[in-house]
Amino acid sequence: MWIKQHLFSSIRWKILATFLGIVGVSFAIAAALLTSLVSSTLYQQRTRQASLSAERLATSAAPFFAQAQTESLMESLSAAASELDGRILLLTPDGKVQLDTFCQLETTRITLPEVDAVLADASHAYGIYPADAGEYAAVCAARMVHEGQTVGVLLLSTPVTELREAIVGTQQQLLTVFAVVAGVALVASLIFSLTLTRPVKALTTTIRRMGKGDLTVRANIRASGELRELAESYNAMAEQIENFDRSRSQFVSNASHELKTPLTAMKLLLECLIDQPEMPDELRMEFMQDMNHEIDRLSGIITDLLTLTQMDSRQSGLHLTEFDLSALAEETLHTLAPVAEKAKLRITAAIAPGVRITGDRTKLASVLGNLTDNAIKYTPEGGEVRVSLAVKGRSAVLTVSDNGIGIPPEEQAHVFDRFYRVDKARSRATGGTGLGLSIVRQMVQLHGGAITLTSAPGEGSTFTVTLPLKAERPGKEAE
Ligand SMILES: Nc1ncnc2c1ncn2[C@@H]1O[C@H](COP(=O)(O)OP(=O)(O)OP(=O)(O)O)[C@@H](O)[C@H]1O
Ligand SMILES: [Mg+2]
Repeated sequence: MWIKQHLFSSIRWKILATFLGIVGVSFAIAAALLTSLVSSTLYQQRTRQASLSAERLATSAAPFFAQAQTESLMESLSAAASELDGRILLLTPDGKVQLDTFCQLETTRITLPEVDAVLADASHAYGIYPADAGEYAAVCAARMVHEGQTVGVLLLSTPVTELREAIVGTQQQLLTVFAVVAGVALVASLIFSLTLTRPVKALTTTIRRMGKGDLTVRANIRASGELRELAESYNAMAEQIENFDRSRSQFVSNASHELKTPLTAMKLLLECLIDQPEMPDELRMEFMQDMNHEIDRLSGIITDLLTLTQMDSRQSGLHLTEFDLSALAEETLHTLAPVAEKAKLRITAAIAPGVRITGDRTKLASVLGNLTDNAIKYTPEGGEVRVSLAVKGRSAVLTVSDNGIGIPPEEQAHVFDRFYRVDKARSRATGGTGLGLSIVRQMVQLHGGAITLTSAPGEGSTFTVTLPLKAERPGKEAE
């Protein structure tokens, strides 16, 4: 059952069956047409010949028949019949046999449509009838007219063996040609289906291997056209899956590392507290504050990770509302003002009033917060952070720039990667994990916007966010 299903559902078999089907049907049609053409040509030829003979005989026999000179008629007609390899019967107008060159049917009555036809009007009529031993006989009737009167009917019957033989011969020849053509079609379809299915099989094997976990396999297919396209698309997909898998494991290892650092610090602090019960109170307090700081850091990383994975899986789409982006920017600056003051930085703003946007307010607040937080973190004392907001066409353009340490050109492409920090030691000292910008970029992209960076080391950085004033809903919106 399985074999049957498997065998006949394969492309190879389908191609084979289609090829043979097409060849078979076209041959059957051609054979039928050819046979009928050959037989009708031969039949017409015979009709013409037999009719001519019958008519000629009827004309010459009519006067003798009218005078009932049967004996001399019998003699001449027997000679004519044997010459034609046939049999001649003479009938009275009411169908009674007067003369039979085989001397068998005299005085019997014969009713044949051909006889009726010639008596009615036709000068002659023709028909084919089965004779003995599977043979067929062609019967031709001709009217005998003497002095304007129909005196009787002449029937000329001749065997049609050679007619049948010609037809059977044609059919046999056609069958031979069919067998040859079918054989060629079979071989051609086998070769064709093999060249078609081989790359498909190779691809299936590759996919199976990949399904078993080997993400490095690629389809090596020497095909052209659609199959080549299929293989190339598959390889591109495999490449992406491999990259995705690599970045995922890197993400997991980075995340674990980042989570482990504060835990290690906390464990150290805790061990000190346990080992030194007589520790001075001020030192104990300091240790506790450090531990509290590490816990904050840990919780911050976990929040960032959750935000990222939620956005990845698109569990949280966008919670779209229409709101005043200018007000949000002012609010953010207001919140960060004390931080900037503490860092001895000057914040300047050029915010166009009343820029209304349809978007996710919380996420855009986070975008603004992250960018200004970075600007403050990576700008030394006495520097300046500048935030601007304007409308260009159908977009809101938000820039956050600083005159801080800047980012080297070769690092600029990576700062949006997860866990990427330009100066690891410095960032860690400032409490950074390298997740902020990747979160920012993902949020901006969710809104259908884009983020660009221009920066020069030692001169400062400018992050420019372009957001459509009306964000499209990307798929399902979260409740
Ligand atoms: N305004 C800036 N000036 C100079 N370097 C910057 C600036 N913004 C970001 N960077 C560099 O890009 C890196 C990635 O920034 P990102 O905000 O993603 O991480 P982070 O600030 O280190 O940590 P956090 O996850 O807390 O934001 C930073 O570590 C820093 O090296
Ligand atoms: Mg940051």
